[in-house]
Amino acid sequence: MNITMVGTGYVGLVSGAGLADFGMQVICVDKDTDRIERLNRGEIPFYEPGLEELVTKNVRNGRLSFTTDLRMAVERSLVIFIAVGTPDNSQGQPDLSQVEEVAKRLAEIIDDYKVLVVKSTVPVGTNRWVKEVLQANMKKDVKIDVVSNPEFLREGSAIEDFMRPDRVVLGSDSQRALAIVKDVYRALYLIESPFVLTNLETAELIKYASNSFLATKISFINEVANICEEVGADVHHVARAMGLDGRIGPKFLHPGPGYGGSCFHKDTLAFAHLGRSLERPVRIVEAVIQVNRDQRKRMITKIEDALGPLEGKIVGILGLTFKPNTSDVRESPALDIAQTLLNKGATIKAYDPAGMDEFKKVVRDEKVSYCNSAYEVAKGADALVFLTEWNEFRNLDLKKLKKNLSTPVILDLRNIYEPERMAELGFKYSGVGRGTNI
Ligand code: UDX
Repeated sequence: MNITMVGTGYVGLVSGAGLADFGMQVICVDKDTDRIERLNRGEIPFYEPGLEELVTKNVRNGRLSFTTDLRMAVERSLVIFIAVGTPDNSQGQPDLSQVEEVAKRLAEIIDDYKVLVVKSTVPVGTNRWVKEVLQANMKKDVKIDVVSNPEFLREGSAIEDFMRPDRVVLGSDSQRALAIVKDVYRALYLIESPFVLTNLETAELIKYASNSFLATKISFINEVANICEEVGADVHHVARAMGLDGRIGPKFLHPGPGYGGSCFHKDTLAFAHLGRSLERPVRIVEAVIQVNRDQRKRMITKIEDALGPLEGKIVGILGLTFKPNTSDVRESPALDIAQTLLNKGATIKAYDPAGMDEFKKVVRDEKVSYCNSAYEVAKGADALVFLTEWNEFRNLDLKKLKKNLSTPVILDLRNIYEPERMAELGFKYSGVGRGTNI
């Protein structure tokens, strides 16, 4: 079956390559000529473990191709996925201009039955709106069905999440369209992935409810961690004991500087906005957003408690990306924390295995220098701050770090190390929700 995938970002490229691997004939379309040329040269425009191999393999076996020619792709396809970006605009609502642009262009091209699958994360009601845009702009009176198929891919593990999803959510008013798109995913029958078949609005809401709940778990454990610090409890033990309750589950109970990434940020804002617009405020999600903002400020307080006034201090930062195994710094806690440190007069030395180029595009300040290792960052620094739990930070030579540091101060904002051991080594050490000797 021929499929068009419109959009070659994180979601579109992973999904397109994944469907090709499932045996579909996939044509990925993007209006960005440079990006398409790079993809046709085998270059992947962002860091995602395993994606280059998956793309190369499926291009080589002829199941995956890239073009800017939407008309050519659509004429050959029954199913057209829309996986373009829906970034939040200045009011914290998803910007649907790219979705609308694609829908209008499709209306000019389509001249026989097609199934349009919206994979982009869109506010509840958008799929129905897309169908209206199509019908209002169609050049011919042909039937179109729309299916909402939200994605649940995590950056850094997107291919595994695509190949072995916890569930596939398909929403539509058309049983015919649901059957067609279910058949697209038939490779997943073999591993018995559950399918949730529902209507358009329910499928759209499942995405927001799922991401907002995951963000809720994170803000919740961050508040628990803050209590732990006051009462001398260990948040790791609290989280472990909580997670042993099957109704809670062990995942997403790691405290830290607050969640980052574009998805949680924009999806929680969108869900909160939806509630307000319906005069049914989703107050829990509004609190989750505020707690996340406050957690970053709390990290600055931790650093000031350890170093005193930041004017003139040299702060080493390890980890700039919003999570490990990605180059993505969108909404990363490191952005807020670094900017605040600079505003308070500190100088920054930073290292990240994959995110420095992206970080430099956002934080343009000559008082930030970039290093090639954790040890180089530590040289002459008054403190070392762990902001992203990259594996290479997990077994550093702590004695060497201590020798390099001007003062043996470590703010371990991802709880990579054990407080007792750090105290024994002579560090002034503070984690999140765990022992501190500062
Ligand atoms: C998330 C959802 O997990 C995914 O299902 C959805 O499709 C897209 O958004 P992603 O943003 O890629 O995926 O990363 P995720 O692994 O969810 O982490 C998001 C942020 O939460 C990161 O900054 C991470 O450091 C933080 N986090 C995660 C915590 O602080 N504590 C945790 O326990 C888990």
